[in-house]
Amino acid sequence: MPKWVTQPPSRRDELGPHKTRFLSLSGPSNASVRELAGEYPSSVDERTEEFASDASASEPLLGDMTWTAGTERSRFDHTLVGYRASYRVDILKRRMYGVRSQIQVQDPAVAKRVSVINFKGGVGKTTLAFNLAAGLARYHDARVLLVDMDHQSSLSIVCLGSDVWRNIAESGDTVNRVFKNFLGSTLPGRKIIHNSRFGEHKSYRARVDIVPANLDLDDTEIELTSSHQGNAIKSEWNKRTLMCRWIEDTDVDSEYDYIIFDCAPATKIVSQNAIAASHGYIIPVVPEAVMERGAPHLRNMIQAGIDVKLSALSAMGDAMPMYAPETRLVGLVVTRVQTGPRAASGYTDDHTQHLQSLARQWGGFLLEPYVSQGTGIPGTLTDRVPVYDRQNTQNVGRRGIHTQFRELTATLRARMEEL
Ligand SMILES: Nc1ncnc2c1ncn2[C@@H]1O[C@H](COP(=O)(O)OP(=O)(O)OP(=O)(O)O)[C@@H](O)[C@H]1O
Ligand SMILES: [Mg+2]
Repeated sequence: MPKWVTQPPSRRDELGPHKTRFLSLSGPSNASVRELAGEYPSSVDERTEEFASDASASEPLLGDMTWTAGTERSRFDHTLVGYRASYRVDILKRRMYGVRSQIQVQDPAVAKRVSVINFKGGVGKTTLAFNLAAGLARYHDARVLLVDMDHQSSLSIVCLGSDVWRNIAESGDTVNRVFKNFLGSTLPGRKIIHNSRFGEHKSYRARVDIVPANLDLDDTEIELTSSHQGNAIKSEWNKRTLMCRWIEDTDVDSEYDYIIFDCAPATKIVSQNAIAASHGYIIPVVPEAVMERGAPHLRNMIQAGIDVKLSALSAMGDAMPMYAPETRLVGLVVTRVQTGPRAASGYTDDHTQHLQSLARQWGGFLLEPYVSQGTGIPGTLTDRVPVYDRQNTQNVGRRGIHTQFRELTATLRARMEEL
């Protein structure tokens, strides 16, 4: 271990020029950290002659590098073993390049961003968004960011509890701030991301964060609709890409495996922001006649309406890297299916008939398994636990509802990976 690391300069030394500097490889994004990691060995290359002629000149730089190589080891879990004994220029240089390539390898592919959407209310959008996020974290080790895009804030309350949610809503650190950006406020950065607090098995919830909503979001949406900013086309584009802008600004995309938007039962500007940022969308449906007509209408509205309009606006608007031009259907998730013990299918006659018709219409997009109607589900939401935490209860576990959600999570995950 070199003495400039084991014996940092005394106070008297500090009065003179710095001999030792301790630098951390930290930056706002993996890309900037990687760039920094590359700068260390490059700067050694540039100063090779200087090092050769005056060994002491290399001390500060080697001090930096020794420390950096060690510290970043814990952060990036790479294989810089034995760095303490190795402070020769060539070895350290090699290791710094090791840090760099390791960060490159770990630079995650962008998060899969999906919207859970249906203009019909009460079909189980929020229940699905919540249990999908919990299932991805619990069974697939995924990091998930939930974004509540509904001013009713049901998802926020489930994830945070009403007291915490109320405090956050009062502080204003909610998704609303993203939309206020169009009305003149600055983008909020990461302060609107909160750790979730749901559930009884707390280990996996650490991988689920939430951007909550608040009731004011509805007013903001109305204001957004009637506000304009300069050129009409740019104005329309800007107000629909506020979420894209925030994701880019915060770089959250590289930190999560999935970003899930729980949309309100509407397809207005806030939902359009979710669509603009999403690679895919999931439609929860209850097997009823209204959905046989409603689901094709919704698909058409998203793909032929919203996506086409956004793409026309994008041609004239500012470049927006987080804008996902094509939003693809992940699938329809059947929820609240009523079982009928006497029916051959296991479902009531009415639901059997609608399920057959949906299967004819949607083929492989009608995902399985279906989620049963169960009195246990409202209880899990009130208790703020995912269904997986209620495996031993009469109304969830015995009815197999946790297994339905677990399998559905696996099905959805496979589909989302293809987006
Ligand atoms: N499979 C189910 N069985 C029984 N009740 C359910 C089921 N899924 C959801 N619910 C209940 O139905 C109600 C609506 O569910 P949820 O809030 O998930 O729907 P939503 O589509 O998000 O509604 P909104 O359009 O208001 O946002 C809730 O009270 C919830 O507890
Ligand atoms: Mg909802």
